[in-house]
Amino acid sequence: MRVASFITALTLALGAVASPIYRRATVTNIQCTDPNTTLDFHTTNVALLQICGGIAGKIQKCQGAPTSTTGKSGNVQFSLTPTVSGATINISKGRWEQGIKAAFAQCGQGKPFTATIQGGASQGDIAVKLEKV
Ligand SMILES: *[C@@H]1O[C@H](CO)[C@@H](O)[C@H](O)[C@H]1NC(C)=O
Ligand SMILES: *[C@@H]1O[C@H](CO)[C@@H](O)[C@H](O)[C@H]1NC(C)=O
Repeated sequence: MRVASFITALTLALGAVASPIYRRATVTNIQCTDPNTTLDFHTTNVALLQICGGIAGKIQKCQGAPTSTTGKSGNVQFSLTPTVSGATINISKGRWEQGIKAAFAQCGQGKPFTATIQGGASQGDIAVKLEKV
């Protein structure tokens, strides 16, 4: 528990230091919003493929140009909102999965977060929230 707290503190400190250096990173503004919760791995993987009405299998990007979307399975929910009001979401599956991976690398696998994924919309970026619902 103490070690985990230390690692969390260290990760937050490094994140704060690193963010100006990695300005061009695909994901910015990663906030670990609920460090005591770990979402189920399989359920999270199902949920992340439910965005935009489903991006499983051969579908390689968000379909239908929604102005917001959620991906939900069980008690796991991803919410995506463009940072520019009225923009539509067209994020590719690769960018989406890479963004989630980067957030988990910072917060811990399955830990709820908020973050901004660069691009992936008709204008601006995409604000992402992962939460237990
Ligand atoms: C998370 O767990 C720690 C250690 O058990 C506790 O001190 C803290 O209050 C918890 N935070 C939340 C938000 O539940
Ligand atoms: C999403 O739309 C933007 C703006 O029209 C475009 O530049 C980008 O290539 C599109 N991305 C995908 C994955 O289709």
